[in-house]
Amino acid sequence: MTSPIPGRLITFEGIDGAGKSTQIDRLEARLREAGLEVVRTREPGGTPVSEIIREVILNEEMTLKTETLLFFAARAQHVDEVIRPALARGAWVLSDRFTDATYAYQVGAKGFSGEACEALEAWTLGDFKPFKTVLFDLAPEVAAKRRQVRAGDTDRFEREETAFFERVRNAYLDRARRDPSRFVIVNAEETPEAIASVLAQEVNQWL
Ligand code: TYD
Repeated sequence: MTSPIPGRLITFEGIDGAGKSTQIDRLEARLREAGLEVVRTREPGGTPVSEIIREVILNEEMTLKTETLLFFAARAQHVDEVIRPALARGAWVLSDRFTDATYAYQVGAKGFSGEACEALEAWTLGDFKPFKTVLFDLAPEVAAKRRQVRAGDTDRFEREETAFFERVRNAYLDRARRDPSRFVIVNAEETPEAIASVLAQEVNQWL
């Protein structure tokens, strides 16, 4: 049975350690309660091939051009294999990161050409954009402390310095300012409960 509400892509962005996962969990539960089919996914990844590309990106050294192309390669597969079919059957897709991350990390923080990124985006996705993008905004110092207490190995992105994450943060905020109707900026330094209540109000407007 197809849902009366059309399928939507919601993406979640922010620097590493922003606390996205907990809030995506809550949002997923809320949408399911509303009777929607929810597809939870992530980038880089989301399909078998894209997950293999993820391992390569996160663990191997490479040029910035190769890295950016690989993010778009993983994304192309993800969109065609998972996201578009899900939206077509009326599902809501929650993706932990999407194209804005490439603008924030590869363009904003690492210096890849913004024009080249726009060309890659246009070629890979056409004018396909998320319905809404939730940006978890917080100071890089706070995020670094959270990453320290989180168990597990760090990947080569998480080992970057505070100044790097400051550039990522500013690039995200800049994109949010340019597209205010798509972005929802959340103060990720608030308590999880406070953030959840802000997002719950947002979701009520989307439904
Ligand atoms: P993520 O899965 O959010 O990391 P983690 O599981 O460690 O929280 O993302 C992996 C890393 O890839 C993260 O540091 C951000 C980075 N990234 C980019 O640099 N560009 C992109 O386009 C995407 C999607 C992610």
